[in-house]
Amino acid sequence: MGKIIAVANQKGGVGKTTTAVNVTGALKLLNKKVLLCDSDPQGNATGAMGIDKSRVKAGTYDIMIGRTAAKDAVRHGGSLPACWIISCGISTWGFGSPPC
Ligand SMILES: Nc1ncnc2c1ncn2[C@@H]1O[C@H](COP(=O)(O)OP(=O)(O)O)[C@@H](O)[C@H]1O
Ligand SMILES: [Mg+2]
Repeated sequence: MGKIIAVANQKGGVGKTTTAVNVTGALKLLNKKVLLCDSDPQGNATGAMGIDKSRVKAGTYDIMIGRTAAKDAVRHGGSLPACWIISCGISTWGFGSPPC
């Protein structure tokens, strides 16, 4: 059975991204299968995985509004090939404005 670990805090700059990315790497070293879900439109976790966030076509926001199935948004983590990621970037984030 999988475990879900959420790293969340309303305040910025407190280490959420650093924690999430490094926990992903540490679990990978323990041979765990890891899916990192980035939900920050700044996409820093996505970038840290070696993925160009400006080229993300389907991410967390698209799943939340039902535009994309989660399985279709999962991709291999760039710099951590045995991990998977659901990316996030400003191009796929639309809360506060109608989806386009
Ligand atoms: N344990 C830590 N010790 C020192 N600096 C840290 C630590 N964790 C994160 N940082 C630094 O703090 C800054 C903000 O971290 P970040 O993970 O981007 O925060 P958040 O995602 O909450 O906005 C970054 O420059 C990061 O390198
Ligand atoms: Mg962050």
